[in-house]
Parts: sequence; C-alpha cells; structure tokens
Amino acid sequence: MTALTLSTAAAPGLRADAIVVGVAKGGSDKGGSAKSGDLVVAPGAEAVDKAYDGGLAGVLETLGASGGEGEVTKLPAPSGFKTPVVLAVGLGAQPDKEASFGTETLRRAAGAAARALAGSKKAAFALPVTDAADAGAIGEGALLGAYAFDVYKENGKDSKDAKKGAKNGKAPLAEIALLGGKPRDKAYKAAVERATAVCEELNRARDLVNTPPNDLNPEAFAAVAQAAAKEHGIKVQVLDEKALEKGGYGGILGVGAGSAAAPRLVKLSYTSSKAKKHLAFVGKGITYDSGGISLKPAGHNETMKCDMSGAAAVFAAVVAAARLGLEVNVTGWLALAENMPSGSATRPGDVLRMYSGKTVEVLNTDAEGRLVLADALWKASEDKPDAIIDVATLTGAMVLALGSRTFGVMANDDAFRSAVVEAAEETGEASWPMPLPDHLKKGMDSPTADIANMGERMGGGLVAGLFLKEFVGEGITWAHLDIAGPAFNESGPFGYTPKGGTGSAVRTLVRVAELTASGDLG
Ligand code: BES
Ligand code: MN
Ligand code: ZN
Repeated sequence: MTALTLSTAAAPGLRADAIVVGVAKGGSDKGGSAKSGDLVVAPGAEAVDKAYDGGLAGVLETLGASGGEGEVTKLPAPSGFKTPVVLAVGLGAQPDKEASFGTETLRRAAGAAARALAGSKKAAFALPVTDAADAGAIGEGALLGAYAFDVYKENGKDSKDAKKGAKNGKAPLAEIALLGGKPRDKAYKAAVERATAVCEELNRARDLVNTPPNDLNPEAFAAVAQAAAKEHGIKVQVLDEKALEKGGYGGILGVGAGSAAAPRLVKLSYTSSKAKKHLAFVGKGITYDSGGISLKPAGHNETMKCDMSGAAAVFAAVVAAARLGLEVNVTGWLALAENMPSGSATRPGDVLRMYSGKTVEVLNTDAEGRLVLADALWKASEDKPDAIIDVATLTGAMVLALGSRTFGVMANDDAFRSAVVEAAEETGEASWPMPLPDHLKKGMDSPTADIANMGERMGGGLVAGLFLKEFVGEGITWAHLDIAGPAFNESGPFGYTPKGGTGSAVRTLVRVAELTASGDLG
C-alpha cells in the first residue's frame, strides 16, 4: 500500500524519484511565482522554478504544456537536484490571488500525477496548498491515483514474484511526500490521517469490485468482511443460507436460488461510546449478475462482477468510520447473492415471501437488486436507526439518465436528499437528486402478489427506488444512491479514477457519517 506523509523537505536537497509541481493557465494580470506567456507555475513550486532560473513556465511551454486539467509533462530536473524528474501537472484556470485551486481540482491533478508516476518508488508533491483541506485533497488524489489492480497479472505487484512488478515498470508509487503543508499542525496531521484511512478502504473496495466473480462469491466476500471487522474492532454477524431460511429472507434467498454459491447477509456494527446518532448503510452485493432466468444478452454481462459495488462501498465506509473513530454508530448491511440461471433458480412468475412479510411477484429475475435490498432494508429498519442509506448498482435506466460519472439520489425526505447530495459534492463525488413520483407505483401492481418487482419501463430508476421505499420501516429517514453509472469505469482512467472499480459512494458515506457525528446532519 502506498504510504502518505507530510514533509518539510525542499528541493534541491529533497530525495525522491520525482517532484510534482502544478502549472496553470494564467489570466494576464494575475500573479504567480513565474510566468511565460499565459502559463503560470502554481505556488508551492518556487524552489523548483528558481532552479530553472525562473524559467520553468517557459520550458514547459516549449514542451507544449497548456496548463489544462489533467495534463502531465515530465522533464529532467535541473542540475544539482537530488530528484531526477520534475512532473508538471495541469491545474486549469488560475484562481484569484491566494485562493485555493479548489479541493477537487487538486485531487484530480494529484491523481493524474500519481498514475503517471507508476514505476517510480517515491514522489514529492509540491502542489499549491492553502490549508489542511487542500493537503488532504492532494493526499487523497495521490493515494487514489496510485491505485493499480494487478493481482491477476503475471508481472503484478502482488503476483508470486513480487520483484517482477517493479521490473516491468508498472508498480504503483510506494511513497508520497506532501510538501507545503505543516507537518506539526493538528489540522494537517488529521487531514493526512483521514485521507489515508478513507483511501486505503476505498482502494480495498475497488479491489473487491475488480476481483473476478469466480473468486469472489457471497461466502468469500463475507469472509473478507469478517477478517476486516476483527482487525478494526467492528462487530460482525454473518447469516448463512440456513439462517436466512430460518429468518424468512425470501428476497435474498430467491435471488441466490439459482447459484451454486449460497447467499449471505452480513451485519457490521461499529459503535462509539460518544455516539448520539445511529446510521445504517445497506449495500447491494450481487457478486455476479447474469440476469438469472431473464438472462442478460452478451454485451451486457461482461462487467457484471461490479454488481456488488454498493456492498463494497458500505463495507469500506464502515471500516473507515471505525478507523477514524467517528462519534456515531454505523451499521453496515451487505446483501450478498449471486444471480444465476439454473434448475433451482427463481422463475419469472414466481412469488417470493419477503422478510417484511410482503409478497413479491418476480416478473423479471434481472431486477434482483431490489429483492436483496428489500430484505436488508427491512432488517436494518428493525434497529430504528436515525437514517438509512442504501447504495446499489441498481438500474441501467439511471445510467441512461445521468451518464457514467454521476449517481442518482432518491429519498423519502427532501431535506435529507439535499444533505446527501451536498455531502457528495463536498467530497468531489458527482451526484444528482432524483424524484420518487407516487404515480409510478401503480405500474408495480401485481394480480397475484402485494407488489411486482417491475413496473413501467420509463423512469426505471425511479420505479426501482419506489419499490425499495416499500421496505423502509415506518418513520425512518431513508436515501437511495443508484451508482450503476459511476461504480465501474469502462473507459480510460481520468483524474484519480482508474479503469474498472472506482469506489463510488465511499467518500459520500464517510462524509455523511462525519456530518452526523458532528451534529451537522440530521
Ligand atoms: N445490475 C443491473 C443494473 C446495472 C446496469 C448495473 C448497468 C450496472 C450497469 C440490475 O440488476 C439490472 O439488471 N437492472 C435491470 C432492471 C430491469 C430488469 C427492470 C435494468 O436496469 O435493465
Ligand atoms: Mn440485474
Ligand atoms: Zn444487478
């Protein structure tokens, strides 16, 4: 795992493999440490610029740098430097004098730089820092951008021959030193500790999402959760298929019925002696979604190992809350099942008796997420938490509506929905409020059961949200995050987001827990 530290070391004596500086597009009348044309070297890089005799911006311009966000330019360090490489990363438009570039801009730039430095061992980040929040954001970006999943590659960092990863030049950055902060200042120290805890757990969620479904079935996921819970003093309880049968969890059992790997419901309880509030997080954990008897066609099933991203996010957030010692009780529920077709699979037309007692006519076995979540939501409601948030790669319709980088937020309480969207925004996660229009409920009327698991095709993401709402306990504040778009990045990496599993919603959940602990939410 990549190590993150605050450092007072400075160029040229600094020992690292590379030093990262920021470069921005300058307005003509705005100040900067150095200027050439419209390119400005961002604050934090003064010592580096000095070594180029104040000509770093000019050198970068010659190399074609524009200062655009995410742009990476590598150049040899000036003579006398103990660090051989200078990496300039674009920060976009320069802010007003003394103002921060903004935490998300810094996070993305640090991420792009860290990824471009794969194969190096240690990098120092001399990006502009105005306060502890900036330092935390740079740390997060670097830790998230340095992520790589190469367990299954012959030359991967975690492959049997550990030396090979470094040899083929692909091993992620091992050490990140943040310059420009105040290592002895409490706020800076806390920011780095927070970044480390959140990003290590977020990267672990990415690992779980990226792990192929033949290696991560519900039982394997539950075992990972059990081990982590033990390590971090979190109480854990795993309901196996027998316990689920006994408890009457018809939704989870119905979805798992076609698989050779039995389903699980995992409860993770983090408690703080100083807690005044209790949050429950519920995650959809379909370790593989084939669609079941309503089988998905080729072209729609290749990435469906990502269908446990909600559960991975919940798991990561509970562990992060524990590591940060947040003064709030957080219960995580992982609803784990594999959705497969077989002679024992649930059929379209079957009626399931859910944990809540309601019956559901399964019209489409590919609408399975709502079935496992319904049982977990009802179970979570029994504890009477102050609020429940569920996270799920629930519908293709939400991807059509919001694209692949934004998750939808639905809720039974407008103020809570707004608070969740705001918390997401603070962390740099893109989300958007979506409605739960009552009239769409009618489409789920079933002639046989209390409700069907499908409704109108139009507004499919909202229909799924309305279905879940039926399984939230009376009077409990609830929000639903549909992360089907941003959970898995099928295109190229950008900013601090890698290809594959992204860790979507982890930072939002942690932020909601922090705000709840401090009394600023709910
Ligand atoms: N896991 C899928 C949703 C999904 C789609 C996640 C794309 C990530 C990317 C979910 O279980 C599903 O199949 N939903 C159906 C529901 C429909 C049958 C009502 C869908 O969206 O098509
Ligand atoms: Mn499905
Ligand atoms: Zn699914």
